[in-house]
Amino acid sequence: FALNIIAMELNPLYETIITDLLENQYAVCDTFFSEEAVQIMRAELENKFETSEFKKSAIGQNSDEIIKDEIRGDYIFWLNEEDKNEASETFFNQINDFVAYINATCYLGISNKEFHYAIYPEGTFYKRHLDVFKNDTRRKLSIVCYLNDENWQPEFGGELVIYKPEEDIKIYPLKGRVVIFESQILEHEVKPVQRKRFSITGWLKTS
Ligand code: OGA
Ligand code: MN
Repeated sequence: FALNIIAMELNPLYETIITDLLENQYAVCDTFFSEEAVQIMRAELENKFETSEFKKSAIGQNSDEIIKDEIRGDYIFWLNEEDKNEASETFFNQINDFVAYINATCYLGISNKEFHYAIYPEGTFYKRHLDVFKNDTRRKLSIVCYLNDENWQPEFGGELVIYKPEEDIKIYPLKGRVVIFESQILEHEVKPVQRKRFSITGWLKTS
């Protein structure tokens, strides 16, 4: 008779994120990825953008997708976990580690994910919205990782504003910063950018 116990080592970084999510429905973490990982992902994003594999983002889902510059102006490129390149492996290794942890500790039942690179050219924005579609509530957690240069200044704009009942939270897209929030609950907005703004954005989903 063997009793198998899978012991998960306590991860202080993830514990902080989970506590913040439970308390505030969002978490900001500047050390989720190593500096080296951020470097690799940023280089891959630039490389992809130069070879122009990006498409204009849309709103809505499937056959309801429409491009509306007055709502959303970024360009995106969907990541495919099967594509074996250093950047996507680096990214998904870290994300999968986090997912295993939150599934084991919070019983979130995350079984699916979707992520894209995003570039906001100068002058673009994403108006206040919720990251869920009509009749599709599978998105549970939104995750954004910023891949901007070191020197992002407040006057470059592009802050993420999360609307809470009590206050508006302003988060600048600093290099390597990761923001995680409850997709079903928190409305948010990307303010107009004065400099090209780089990120990976995506969702952890149930089936
Ligand atoms: C989104 C989004 C936030 C950000 O792509 O849905 O809200 O800070 N992005 O890029
Ligand atoms: Mn959003």
